[in-house]
Amino acid sequence: MSIKADRLKNVSISASAAMTQRARELAAQGIKVVSLSSGEPDFPTPAHAIEAAHAAALAGDTKYPPMDGTPALKAAVIRKFKRDNNLDYDASQIVVSGGGKQVIFNAMLATCNPGDEVVIPTPSWVSYADIVKFAGGVPVPVPCHEQAGFKLRPEDLEAAITPRTKWLFLNFPNNPTGAACSRAEMAAIAEVMQRHPNVWIMTDDIYEHLVYDDFQFCTIAEVEPRLYDRVLTMNGVSKAYAMTGWRLGFCAGPKELIAAISNVNGQNGGGIATLTQAAATAALDGPQDLLKERAAIYKTRRDFVLDKLSEVEGLRCHRPEGAFYIYPNISGLIGKTSKGGRKIETDVDFVMALVDEHHVATVQGAAYGMSPFFRISYATSLEKLAEGCARIAEFCKDMR
Ligand SMILES: Cc1ncc(COP(=O)(O)O)c(C=O)c1O
Repeated sequence: MSIKADRLKNVSISASAAMTQRARELAAQGIKVVSLSSGEPDFPTPAHAIEAAHAAALAGDTKYPPMDGTPALKAAVIRKFKRDNNLDYDASQIVVSGGGKQVIFNAMLATCNPGDEVVIPTPSWVSYADIVKFAGGVPVPVPCHEQAGFKLRPEDLEAAITPRTKWLFLNFPNNPTGAACSRAEMAAIAEVMQRHPNVWIMTDDIYEHLVYDDFQFCTIAEVEPRLYDRVLTMNGVSKAYAMTGWRLGFCAGPKELIAAISNVNGQNGGGIATLTQAAATAALDGPQDLLKERAAIYKTRRDFVLDKLSEVEGLRCHRPEGAFYIYPNISGLIGKTSKGGRKIETDVDFVMALVDEHHVATVQGAAYGMSPFFRISYATSLEKLAEGCARIAEFCKDMR
């Protein structure tokens, strides 16, 4: 008899983590791998956040934290939602968890009954479907086609909703496509949701501050206040403030939902590290100029990669509005053979041949639920991007 519980049967290890592992193995053999697979800012955590954690430790803020977040952090989160999103919440409507990932995990565990459906616009972050399955729910992917700029079309959303639908997930700017929603596009989604009063909405706004060319980010509870009572707005410090290792995410929503999430949160972690909470409070309340400064750097990188890859025959790149990913279509290369003799029948074949023959780590579109594509993360230096793009170009050029 297996030691593994049945609930783990359908849960896979994250595909981007699998590629990171492959890249590590090659690096251990002394091979110089250009890693464009990790969804992690290459910037440092702001110094004032680190100093706040240090000061908190010295001041003795090292005891068990409140389960749902320290009053100081909750107050900073309330200010953040007002400042950035014009959303009003009180402390009973906020819960703080170990990363955006844990917010979603706790929310699904707190709300999904077996067989409940969760509509997931796809391509989507690898973890959504696994988290839903873990909680006993059923992920229902809705395609966001390349021709539609990888946006969620209202008619596709409408068609995906059934009497069993419990949640709709939104993630714009999106991982892996970088697509973001304009206000009008979000209003069209909101209109559909108003016709389905039993469906809740979880919006993952983790890439909120990473939008380019004056694109205006918006979030659904603000665009359509009539949905406020069934929207869970999730965000965190990982991407915006380069604090992935601190593990902190937060959410806001209706009181009853937050109480249920808080209950799970208390059971599975007992609250988040006090020093992390002090650092996050400082990041949210501190100077915000770095967000714009870093977004400008990401924009330069995005434009650089798009420019280089647009010259490569066989690749087709949509121009994303945000996040730090590009999602090239490789249908022009399917059926070809790499210089190293690998037949490219799928995007998995493509990324594996690319990492083995030219030592560039990326992630296959299949991991995000839409093929044949691959994801490039440009959260790395221009120098590495130049090297990575040159290798990708050579790899594609040599295919027969
Ligand atoms: C869409 C999306 N949501 C959430 C997360 C996880 O964020 P955190 O580090 O706060 O758990 C990621 C990380 O890659 C992501 O891409």
